[in-house]
Amino acid sequence: MMDILVIFGPNLNMLGTREPDIYGTDSMADIMAALVSRADDLGRKIDMVQSNDEGVLVTAIQAARQDAAAILFNLAAYTHSSVALRDALAMFDGPKVEVHLSNNDSREDFRRVSMTAGVSDGSIAGFGIDSFLLGLDAAHRLLRRRGHGVTVRQVMMGDIG
Ligand code: DQA
Repeated sequence: MMDILVIFGPNLNMLGTREPDIYGTDSMADIMAALVSRADDLGRKIDMVQSNDEGVLVTAIQAARQDAAAILFNLAAYTHSSVALRDALAMFDGPKVEVHLSNNDSREDFRRVSMTAGVSDGSIAGFGIDSFLLGLDAAHRLLRRRGHGVTVRQVMMGDIG
């Protein structure tokens, strides 16, 4: 069982070259590497998945009910449209943290609506790659608050935030 499943939605595989003025120049691989490093510092085991396909994302969230204690997600454009992803997240009992690279509230009106925020513990948006790292910290803290701690060995080895 992993601690935190990190989900990347559609078009996030194009980060780095995709509208860099909005999303920055970090690639998805750069973000994943930063998350692995931070998770290691926190003593948390993470898995990551990216898909451009709504159904694949629904299935990943359903599987997380058995496989993961928390979910950190950027569902990208599906954030604004997907009742199916909202319903899948609603079935997941552990901590759920929504993140976005850009500040959706300062962009087009349609980005101000999140189908998924209402079934999440909270959202972090507007800080580029740091949104993911802050979101990971938030998921870690929510897990700890719910008694899903880290092992004594991990505590002795370093920072658990
Ligand atoms: C995004 C914001 C969404 O509106 C957009 O469709 C994305 C990326 C973000 O991380 O800023 O693909 O989720």
